[in-house]
Amino acid sequence: MAEDFVTVAWTPSGSVRLIDQTRLPTEEVYIECRTIEEVTDAIRTMRVRGAPAIGVTAAMGLALGAQTIQTENFKEFFTALEAMGSLLMRTRPTAVNLAWGVRRLLNLARKSRDLAQAEIKAALVAEARAMQEEDIRINRAMGQHGQSLLPDPARVLTHCNAGGLATAGYGTAVGVIRAATEAGKRIMVWVDETRPLLQGARLTAWELQRAGIPATLITDNMAGHFMARGQVDVVVVGADRIARNGDVANKIGTYSVALLARAHGIPFYVAAPISTLDLSLTDGSQIPIEERAPDEVTHIGEHRVAPAGIRVANPAFDVTPASFVDAIITECGVARAPYDVSLPRLAGEA
Ligand code: MRU
Repeated sequence: MAEDFVTVAWTPSGSVRLIDQTRLPTEEVYIECRTIEEVTDAIRTMRVRGAPAIGVTAAMGLALGAQTIQTENFKEFFTALEAMGSLLMRTRPTAVNLAWGVRRLLNLARKSRDLAQAEIKAALVAEARAMQEEDIRINRAMGQHGQSLLPDPARVLTHCNAGGLATAGYGTAVGVIRAATEAGKRIMVWVDETRPLLQGARLTAWELQRAGIPATLITDNMAGHFMARGQVDVVVVGADRIARNGDVANKIGTYSVALLARAHGIPFYVAAPISTLDLSLTDGSQIPIEERAPDEVTHIGEHRVAPAGIRVANPAFDVTPASFVDAIITECGVARAPYDVSLPRLAGEA
C-alpha cells in the first residue's frame, strides 16, 4: 500500500518538491524549493516535518546549495558546504536525522575530494536522492519487524504523525500499522490530535483515512479514558532522537502517553530508523529540546484562544525514559532492554 502523495522529491529540473504540510488536510498543495534558503525556511516553518523527512529534505537542500558554490579549490568548496550544513542543522535541533542527513553529504564530499567539482556536485545530488529511496525501504523493513508485535485484532494508539508525511514514505509508527493491515490483521487506530500543532488531527487522520485504515480521532486528554476502559491494546509512536540508554525524545505529550500505557499494562513501542539513534548521548537528559513560538499555543490556526500577553512555554518534544519503552522497532530488528546493549548491536548491523 503506497501513498498517493509525495512528501519530498528531487525534481528533474533540479529543485526540491514538498507537499506543504501546513496546508493539510484542507488543501493539497506542493511547493518547489529552488534554493537552500527556501529549503531551510520550509523546514523551520514545518512545511516539511517529521525526523526522517527533514533528514532527507536537509540533504537535498545541501545538494541544492552545493550547486551554487563557485570555486575549483576543494578546501574553499568544503568550507562553504559546511557553512550551509550548519545553517540547515540550526533549523530544528531535536531530530538527529537532520544532522545525520547533512553529515552524510559532508562525508561524501570529503571522500570525493579528488573528483572534479562538477562530479562532486552530481554525487551529492545522487546521494540525497538515494537517501529518499533508502528511507522508504527502511520503513518497509521496520513495518515488517513491528507488525509482528501487534495482536489481531488490535486497537493501536499513536501520537503526532509518524507516517508517510514524516518520512520519505510509508512511515515509521504508521508504517508498522500499515504493515499489520497489509498482513491482514484487523487494526483500528486511536489518533491523538497532538496539540499544539495538531499533527495527529491534521496529518495522521488524513493519511489513515486515505489509506483506508479505520481511525478515530481523540483529543490528547482522552487517551487515559479509553485505556481505562480497555479500549487500547498497544501504543506505537515514532521518535526524533534516541539516546544510547533507550530514552526517547518524541513529540510533546509522548511521555504522558507512555506513563498512561504503563499504568494500564499496555505495551508501549517506539518505531524509528537507526539514523534516529544518537549513541553519543548516554541518556535523554542530553537531548536538546526545541522551544517554539508562543503563538503556537495561544492560537489554534489563525484563531486566538488565550489572552494576549500571557506567558507561554512551548517545548516541541519530551523525553520518555527507557524504562517505559517496551521495545524499539528498527529496520534491523526489535531492540529490548537493556538498550545500551541492544541498540549499539543493531546499529552495528546497519
Ligand atoms: O515537530 P514535528 O512534527 O517534526 O515532530 C514529529 C514527531 O515528533 C514524530 O513523531 C517523529 O519525528 C517521528 S516521525 C517518523
